[in-house]
Amino acid sequence: MSIADPKHPLPDLADLLRFYADAGVDEALFDEPADRFEESAATTARAQAPQRTEPPPTREAAAQPAQARPVPAMAVPDEAQAARARELAREAKSLEELREIVSAFDGCNLKFTAKQTVFSDGNPQADLMLVGEAPGRDEDIEGLPFVGRSGRLLDRMLAAIGIDRTTAYIANVIPWRPPGNRTPTPLETEICRPFIERQIELAAPKVLVTLGGPSAKVLLHASEGVLRLRGKWKTHATASGTEIAAMPTLHPAYLLRNPAHKKLAWRDLLEVRARLETLRG
Ligand code: URA
Repeated sequence: MSIADPKHPLPDLADLLRFYADAGVDEALFDEPADRFEESAATTARAQAPQRTEPPPTREAAAQPAQARPVPAMAVPDEAQAARARELAREAKSLEELREIVSAFDGCNLKFTAKQTVFSDGNPQADLMLVGEAPGRDEDIEGLPFVGRSGRLLDRMLAAIGIDRTTAYIANVIPWRPPGNRTPTPLETEICRPFIERQIELAAPKVLVTLGGPSAKVLLHASEGVLRLRGKWKTHATASGTEIAAMPTLHPAYLLRNPAHKKLAWRDLLEVRARLETLRG
């Protein structure tokens, strides 16, 4: 079918873009558009064409660069990559070393569609560390966690208990934006898990706050939903056996959609403030 076929009129482009945005497709992966109709027609034609034996390419032809559209080499996420991530994470002796290791790691397919690695923001010496799920569009562009709409709400929530990015350290379980903000797969999460665990171990906060269900699930090994889990102190155990007090709370993106639940997050943050004050004596 040609896209200009009168039997199939062009869709209203605004509707089409809205459809894509609603589905989470909010940016292009490649600079040039790919005509999938043409590609699939060419594949069908190739399959139906009588088989011919091509003469081997001449030496000159073989030396020419391929004309095909460049496609980034994707890593296949598998258990071997998770094992490699565990080994590399253990090697990091400081947060800066870990940042370099994570930025250079090519074992997670999410890295290939993200613009950059989003490692952390804030003060790594802070008593408080907050961990979200994964960067979104704004974080991917700026290279910093929680700088978009939910980040602005997080800043206001922290300000309400007297904290800002000089007194908190912020990171995500996944350091690369999943395309279209889709949910990371269990294997992608498993590959990234050793990095965030080592990041927490090296930052050694006194209090950890997990933002949203996925972060609580990974860092607190929780199986309950976050609405049941939130507000109760848990512990996060590091690989070396240190136990860190951890408070699961609601994700700011969830609070933007469910403002009536902000009071619950407020209660959780009051608990966090009280704990930090006790620790400071
Ligand atoms: N949501 C997250 O979980 N992390 C971010 O950095 C931004 C939005």
